[in-house]
Amino acid sequence: MGERVEPALSARAQAAFQACAQGRLPPNLAAMHLLIEGADLSAFEIEIARTQEPESAERLKQARAFAAGSAAVLVPRLSALLNHNPGLDPADAVARWAAAFDAAVAAHPEASVALYTLGDPRLLDAASREIAAALGDWGLLGPDRRVLDLGCGIGRMLPTLAGSCALAVGVDVSAGMLAEARRRCAGACNLLLVRSSGRDLAMFPDGGFNLVLAVDSFPYLHLSGIAEPMFAEAARLLAPGGSLAILNYSYRDDFEADRRDLDRLSETHGLEVVRRGTRDFVLWDGASFVLRRPGR
Ligand SMILES: C[S@@+](CC[C@H](N)C(=O)[O-])C[C@H]1O[C@@H](n2cnc3c(N)ncnc32)[C@H](O)[C@@H]1O
Repeated sequence: MGERVEPALSARAQAAFQACAQGRLPPNLAAMHLLIEGADLSAFEIEIARTQEPESAERLKQARAFAAGSAAVLVPRLSALLNHNPGLDPADAVARWAAAFDAAVAAHPEASVALYTLGDPRLLDAASREIAAALGDWGLLGPDRRVLDLGCGIGRMLPTLAGSCALAVGVDVSAGMLAEARRRCAGACNLLLVRSSGRDLAMFPDGGFNLVLAVDSFPYLHLSGIAEPMFAEAARLLAPGGSLAILNYSYRDDFEADRRDLDRLSETHGLEVVRRGTRDFVLWDGASFVLRRPGR
């Protein structure tokens, strides 16, 4: 009998297993990272069998359940469509991301905006409710507020925002995303969807909003080389007392650099830093930056 050879795991996959077992990475996120790294279900089995701690084994079993079934095909497919390192010419980047998100939303709407949901609409709904609850706790919503969702995708946040604000506007560069958002948001009378050039927010007036929200959209502005001019645009739109909430600024894996950039940009554009990259979510590893225009 030959000795059983275990498939080689990348360093990232090993780190994801470890973080999940220790409770530092939610099982759905661990499953996403592991599927992207090419781990198959046998790798989960090996890790579970190796784990001494019952609680750690339970977390790994939850991750295995998320990774089973259609996620095993869906996650690598969407991850390839939204490849973060395509070596883009900055002149083409905005159009490239618009086309990539058009293709991704056609492949799977829920997974296209939040791969960590593994395409499960219930998980997307729970994660969206978690974000809306945080915005409410931070005092950013209210019946007199006008809200812009920058890079709104399929509009998963918009019905809730429209329900607790005077006006909710979603803006996105992807026609496919906006078509899906229109379908999902049909019927709300205080909700608008707008397609942008992706390079500015010129269609909106100075001081027109009390909240500009960007959930996982700034990383794509960053990858396109336009995060700083788009930050300036978002800051321009804030009324006195208004807030810019950026949930994830970049995917460059350098959290201190994100903090430094946002400190500098806030100072340049006259905003106060209210949250500086706090980790506020259970279902998602988003880092929250809230910047406020002084006044009122
Ligand atoms: C990961 S998705 C997140 C969507 C949504 N915020 C959510 O959390 O469900 C990123 C979104 O940013 C949009 N996006 C990328 N580059 C953009 C740009 N330059 N201007 C506006 N939207 C952009 C994409 O089309 C996509 O809908």
